[in-house]
Amino acid sequence: MNVLVTGGAGFIGSAYVRHRLRTHPEFKVRVLDKLTYAGRRENLRSLPEERLELVVADVADRDAVRAALEGCDAIVNFAAETHVDRSIEAPGEFIETDVFGTFILLEAARDAGVRHLQISTDEVYGSIEDGSFDESSRLDPSSPYSASKAGADLLVGAFRRTYDTDALIARASNNYGPRQYPEKLIPLCVLNALAGDPLPVYGDGMQVRNWLWVDDFAAAIDTVLEYGDAGEVYNVGGPDELPNIEVVKRILELTGRDESLIEHVTDRLGHDRRYSLSAAKTEALGWRAAVGFDGGIERTVEWYRENEWWWKPIRSGEYREHYEQRYGSALG
Ligand code: NAD
Ligand code: TYD
Repeated sequence: MNVLVTGGAGFIGSAYVRHRLRTHPEFKVRVLDKLTYAGRRENLRSLPEERLELVVADVADRDAVRAALEGCDAIVNFAAETHVDRSIEAPGEFIETDVFGTFILLEAARDAGVRHLQISTDEVYGSIEDGSFDESSRLDPSSPYSASKAGADLLVGAFRRTYDTDALIARASNNYGPRQYPEKLIPLCVLNALAGDPLPVYGDGMQVRNWLWVDDFAAAIDTVLEYGDAGEVYNVGGPDELPNIEVVKRILELTGRDESLIEHVTDRLGHDRRYSLSAAKTEALGWRAAVGFDGGIERTVEWYRENEWWWKPIRSGEYREHYEQRYGSALG
């Protein structure tokens, strides 16, 4: 299959493109990406140019999407506004890209008769105190971000039932690894720790996230793309659950900093307390997570340490302003 990867210049999308090109040397990848603050050409650097094409366009642009789909056998849709805190400040773009953009892609997939794999999130289920969500759990999103992702997921189901579109969903827990934009907890804390800046922990820091190594998710996506059934949802939960405060302490250890850098700050509005996802259904297709949190966080810190060229320009640009506005303090 030649694949159209929308949002392929972002964190997970670019990891998937890398995985796909490496594991399918006979096929091509076309990326369609608007290159928002989170999408970067650099994320697609050092990949085989003859098999990779980047189209800079909006997923909500019907003509651009249809043109980009020519010659492709499937769409894998990562394109989204993805940061919960930004969705609380300004939800509009989340609806435009995550919901309307998905609708445009589904229409194009339906008309071209190709498979549409929607990349979704555990956040559509809301928070869970004990146990883990499975695919039959009720959708109960808390933030404008997760509500827009849930809206897109419902459209996928509707296209399958109404038009028999070959559409399905992979829902992942929190990803981490190289090339994640530093607005998210792990890269934010790694870069702050390296710079000696405070690490902002929301509330008591006892919120639990279910961490998934990004390349493990990339492999799961290909498994679902190839073996998943149309109309089905596949949850891809990571192997480890940790409270945020433990994640932050691990980063401090790995960067040789002490806990005096931890700063408890005002909690996020509507903050989900715990996410946990059962991966049993995806595992039944033959996928297994290969990297646990201990190894993955070491590799992540190492990657940021060795790739200043990647994050230096980010930390001095749009992100710097975002940080000052959000946290009320300047980056060092
Ligand atoms: P990201 O913010 O790093 O990347 C998003 C990409 O989408 C960027 O390249 C951006 O330029 C592109 N994009 C945004 N709006 C667009 C538009 N209108 N048209 C075309 N391209 C557009 O996000 P990510 O963390 O890589 O997440 C990718 C997908 O995975 C998202 O759909 C997200 O909801 C989902 N997801 C993420 C996580 C996580 O932990 N990061 C977990 C589960 C699911
Ligand atoms: P985040 O990386 O934004 O992912 P998500 O909200 O999609 O889970 O946040 C992960 C967790 O870390 C979440 O519970 C919020 C918390 N958090 C902080 O404590 N401080 C921060 O500065 C950020 C960005 C997140």
